[in-house]
Amino acid sequence: MKTPVFVQLHHDSAEHIRQELIQGLTANAQPGGATVSPKFLYDALGSRLFEAITELPEYYPTRTEAAIFKAHAQAMARSVPPAATLIDLGAGNCGKAAALFGVLAPRRYVAIDISVDFLRGTLDVLQRQHPAMDLVGIGLDFSQALDLPPEAGEPGSGPRLLFYPGSSIGNFTPAQALVFLRQVRAACGPVAGSGLLIGVDLVKDAAELEAAYDDALGVTAAFNRNLIYNLNRLVGTDMRLADWAHLALFNRLESRIEMHLVAQRDLSVQWPGGQRAFSRGERIHTENSYKWTVAGFSQLLREAGFAEPQVWTDALTADAGRFAVMWAGA
Ligand code: AVI
Repeated sequence: MKTPVFVQLHHDSAEHIRQELIQGLTANAQPGGATVSPKFLYDALGSRLFEAITELPEYYPTRTEAAIFKAHAQAMARSVPPAATLIDLGAGNCGKAAALFGVLAPRRYVAIDISVDFLRGTLDVLQRQHPAMDLVGIGLDFSQALDLPPEAGEPGSGPRLLFYPGSSIGNFTPAQALVFLRQVRAACGPVAGSGLLIGVDLVKDAAELEAAYDDALGVTAAFNRNLIYNLNRLVGTDMRLADWAHLALFNRLESRIEMHLVAQRDLSVQWPGGQRAFSRGERIHTENSYKWTVAGFSQLLREAGFAEPQVWTDALTADAGRFAVMWAGA
């Protein structure tokens, strides 16, 4: 039996993280004022809260994407060429990619997450199930740059399938998404049959979108407000949970759901070496989740250098047209 290979490439110092967060908290000049990158939502508790979100009745993306993969498995198997290397950009628990092993029969599976520690246990289990497959775990923040190490395999050694499920592409602005997709196109390498299989959340009714990001149980509110604990730990701020409320709104002009923390009274946030005053109602912008049309995202893929995509949506299921899975050849 082979053994998984692990490489940790992403390293960030506590001081660098602190400076990035303080810069966002004190950003008055930017439209929207203070911001915190959504990557800081995902500490151990935040990751668990996100897992819980995916099971909520209002949060349709996860189950709708799963239904599309199930309903169109045979059509996908006909369209997506078998890949020598499957590169998973949304690894998490590797479950979505592992479900494709039967169809795509990759020789090598490369799972990417910000920390390889999240991948160790899962890849060890997968190795027992697939003893002959090369399994590689890479700790990489690909929102910065998608530089794959040699362990990901030679780009010319066979077709590469880059897999980015879950509509995480929506957490990039359109300009960032284009830069990222160009890097994905470059990472596909020179071999024919390579390409990108991606999940994209679609524009829909504002009420349905806002419910998905402000569920009745309050799990998404907890996910957003957990950022207060993270800021207190990482920056040394003195924020109190009771002073901040969760807000999710659909900005139709920008075609995005926005998450904010809203100050519930006039207050001052203090940290060692600094402070910022917030008036009642003032917000910290914590996440964008862009919603695309099929035409708009197809155009973005073409601009990034991909061929016209093959598109599967949930039009055949009860949740018609909420979500799309796209295959774009490189
Ligand atoms: C991870 N990402 C695709 C989720 C989304 O829908 O944008 C994160 C999320 N935020 C609130 N709920 C879920």
